[in-house]
Amino acid sequence: MTRLLQRFTILIVMLSRKEAESQVVQSLPGCSDKCGNVTIPYPFGIEENCYLATHYRVNCTTLTMFSKNIFKLVDISLDGFMRGVLPMAYGCYNGTHELNGSDLQMWMGRFSVSSTMNLLTSVGCDTRADIMTLDGEDIVAVGITRSECDWLYDGSCSGYGCRQVPLPPRMTRFRIRSQRNPGKVGNWSFNNCSYAFIVQRDHYKFYKTDIDNMLNRSFPVVLEWTVGHNDCKHSQQDKTRYVCKENSVCIDSTNDGYNCRCAPGYQGNPYLPNGCQDINECEGGLNDCIYGCVNVNGTYHCSCPFGQSGDGREHGSGCSYLKAAKSVRNLYMAVTVFSYHIDWQASSWAL
Ligand SMILES: *[C@@H]1O[C@H](CO)[C@@H](O)[C@H](O)[C@H]1NC(C)=O
Ligand SMILES: *[C@@H]1O[C@H](CO)[C@@H](O)[C@H](O)[C@H]1NC(C)=O
Ligand SMILES: *[C@@H]1O[C@H](CO)[C@@H](O)[C@H](O)[C@H]1NC(C)=O
Ligand SMILES: *[C@@H]1O[C@H](CO)[C@@H](O)[C@H](O)[C@H]1NC(C)=O
Ligand SMILES: *[C@@H]1O[C@H](CO)[C@@H](O)[C@H](O)[C@H]1NC(C)=O
Ligand SMILES: *[C@@H]1O[C@H](CO)[C@@H](O)[C@H](O)[C@H]1NC(C)=O
Ligand SMILES: *[C@@H]1O[C@H](CO)[C@@H](O)[C@H](O)[C@H]1NC(C)=O
Ligand SMILES: *[C@@H]1O[C@H](CO)[C@@H](O)[C@H](O)[C@H]1NC(C)=O
Repeated sequence: MTRLLQRFTILIVMLSRKEAESQVVQSLPGCSDKCGNVTIPYPFGIEENCYLATHYRVNCTTLTMFSKNIFKLVDISLDGFMRGVLPMAYGCYNGTHELNGSDLQMWMGRFSVSSTMNLLTSVGCDTRADIMTLDGEDIVAVGITRSECDWLYDGSCSGYGCRQVPLPPRMTRFRIRSQRNPGKVGNWSFNNCSYAFIVQRDHYKFYKTDIDNMLNRSFPVVLEWTVGHNDCKHSQQDKTRYVCKENSVCIDSTNDGYNCRCAPGYQGNPYLPNGCQDINECEGGLNDCIYGCVNVNGTYHCSCPFGQSGDGREHGSGCSYLKAAKSVRNLYMAVTVFSYHIDWQASSWAL
């Protein structure tokens, strides 16, 4: 739960940072960093020699990257997430037989569906949604709706007509299938089709009418991306392959590989040479200096008026003459204790 909250916080931070990010160039020199209004930050790229490896190549015309153009890209964040839309799997019945249907087959290269930010969703009466291995029949996740389809409520995805279950981690190759309970194929005249899809948490609201028809809809999905194939410790040892540039830090991932992030006090694209630029905290109210502010690489210092000392910060010790006074007081106390000591010793001697 904490991890989930963390992820959401990251997402919110990432969205609010969007504006700042869009103002600086996000690609290698000579490369474009936009497909329409979608920013494509390095290690992703559009033209040849503009991406880190072919996995990160974006087809600007279709806004797709892999898997037969099924995943439509909406947004790439430098925090290791990307958002896009995926279609659904479905199965339609006529009372006795399956008439038509379509599984959704996905191969996402080295990217995976975020298990913390998405849910497998099943819509239909007495329906099951399966996520299976791409080339086998092994089931890795399943969501089953109840057979009672008389109690459907808008906004309620608790098993009646709609159900959502978590996804396993590290899903990069899979198949989604939607199936009616074989014994009750199409027993609901109002529900001829069953649907299965992955959707970002809180991005699908169930409506009773979805039971009637929701064919051809697409849903927002969050993917996770990394670089490299090792953890930070091992990747940093191989300087030629390590991709985090200056003033950045390495973040271990639960997926294969790692992510880069600009070090505290820096902002920009940590995958680009000189991508992480110093944040000038002395501008735009990013500091809590009471008097003067001095920007330095990675942080800032506050200054105090002549004769005063302290950290100069509103939430720190501020600026005052007190520090000098305090040391005088300490000296006074030391002298007092010392003299008391002498007195005591003198009196013991006297005994
Ligand atoms: C990009 O443009 C499309 C349509 O032109 C629009 O639907 C979408 O919301 C825009 N995205 C952003 C992030 O502005
Ligand atoms: C992008 O995808 C379209 C449709 O599949 C294809 O015709 C085009 O050649 C692709 N563009 C590049 C640069 O690969
Ligand atoms: C359902 O489809 C099957 C196969 O196409 C057909 O044999 C059957 O008659 C159909 N049933 C109904 C009720 O339409
Ligand atoms: C929908 O299912 C009902 C039975 O559940 C069947 O009578 C009807 O023909 C089906 N409609 C279509 C369009 O297949
Ligand atoms: C599949 O069957 C359903 C229900 O009969 C129908 O509404 C839909 O148009 C069919 N889809 C295709 C692609 O044939
Ligand atoms: C279909 O539903 C009706 C009432 O809901 C039930 O009586 C009947 O047995 C069901 N048929 C099948 C094949 O499950
Ligand atoms: C779904 O989309 C396909 C192609 O995009 C189209 O042929 C089909 O008629 C659509 N079906 C419905 C039910 O809208
Ligand atoms: C910050 O770092 C850059 C390059 O690393 C250097 O050129 C510049 O002098 C530094 N600035 C300060 C204030 O230390």
